[in-house]
Amino acid sequence: MTGRYRLTSVETVRDEGSWLFTVRDERGSDEEVVLVPCVDPDQPAVEAWVNRCTHEAQRLHRDGIGAVIRDGGIVCPKHGSIFDTCSGYCDNGEAAETTLVSVDVTVDDGQVYLTDDEVDFLYEGGIDDDDDDDGPSSTSHLRL
Ligand code: FES
Repeated sequence: MTGRYRLTSVETVRDEGSWLFTVRDERGSDEEVVLVPCVDPDQPAVEAWVNRCTHEAQRLHRDGIGAVIRDGGIVCPKHGSIFDTCSGYCDNGEAAETTLVSVDVTVDDGQVYLTDDEVDFLYEGGIDDDDDDDGPSSTSHLRL
């Protein structure tokens, strides 16, 4: 993607706690991305992370629940590791010493834009698959 694509507003991300969308990367794989508030005054008000824990393929943002944010961290629902919303870094639990995969966004005049050259915006929300707990799926639902 070149240029930028408006995703939502900072206010919406703050009100909802997190905001999910789906992108397609350069290899043609679809990925869920979660926007979360960042309270570091030296960083944008919102950061974007691939919606998958670094320990196992576990969604951080889940349908009907969103992402659980506590004290500036995203809590993994499976084993409880907490990732800093601003840096994506985890210093605790099963995912310790790892960092979430980032996606480039910018904030301009209260709006959040996707600016990552390596992905294309597909749609708001997550990938529709049958098992929400297994994380984003790369398998097809085609039947032969
Ligand atoms: S799957 Fe997230 S900490 Fe284990």
